[in-house]
Amino acid sequence: MGGAREVVQMENKRTDFSFSEPFLGAYLVENVKDYSIDAKTIVLNLGKRGVEMTGDELKPLSSSVYSKISIEKAEKLACIELEADLDLRETFPFSEELKAKWQHVHEIFPLPQLKKTKLWRSGKERIRNIEFNLWFASAGTNCGLHNKHEFREIHTQVYGLGRMQKFLDNDIKSLYNEVFMGPGHTHGPFYNKKGEYPWHQYYADSDCIWMAVEFYD
Ligand SMILES: [Fe+2]
Repeated sequence: MGGAREVVQMENKRTDFSFSEPFLGAYLVENVKDYSIDAKTIVLNLGKRGVEMTGDELKPLSSSVYSKISIEKAEKLACIELEADLDLRETFPFSEELKAKWQHVHEIFPLPQLKKTKLWRSGKERIRNIEFNLWFASAGTNCGLHNKHEFREIHTQVYGLGRMQKFLDNDIKSLYNEVFMGPGHTHGPFYNKKGEYPWHQYYADSDCIWMAVEFYD
């Protein structure tokens, strides 16, 4: 007899990210079946297929803000719950807590030009081939031009208003494309099929938090 062995994966397998805070809950849910989300939540589709979200389709590598929805089926969703009443026009009320707990960018990348950059990163969470982490930048911060990564990245805006910017050269004056980032938005990939990037950076108009999603396959 024999035949292919059926691997039964647990439905609605939820992994809470270690960088969650009382005001910001982040988690991954896999093998999603008849799953309800009640609280206001940013939902990012990390599956290969579109997901039916109470009538609308959430495309792969896209995100939006949902509440009171039921999802019939999805492969993999990253979810972020942010305290609903935070006012985008204010400075981020928990910034000092994050700065104390997270690493300053200069500790991670000890480049002289990053020493005074008002940018901090949370711890990382790796689930198989994907790493997740959060960034916080103060209002008015140029987060640093770069064009190399050992992974393919996308970013989901969690709080504040910012921009992903592309440049012709390693020169802030060579800007040629801006993608504005508001809460719940994920920008499209900047990398090509070979994993090559243009010069790019994040610019924070207001205090900003965003989630980096890094693919290692
Ligand atoms: Fe980047």
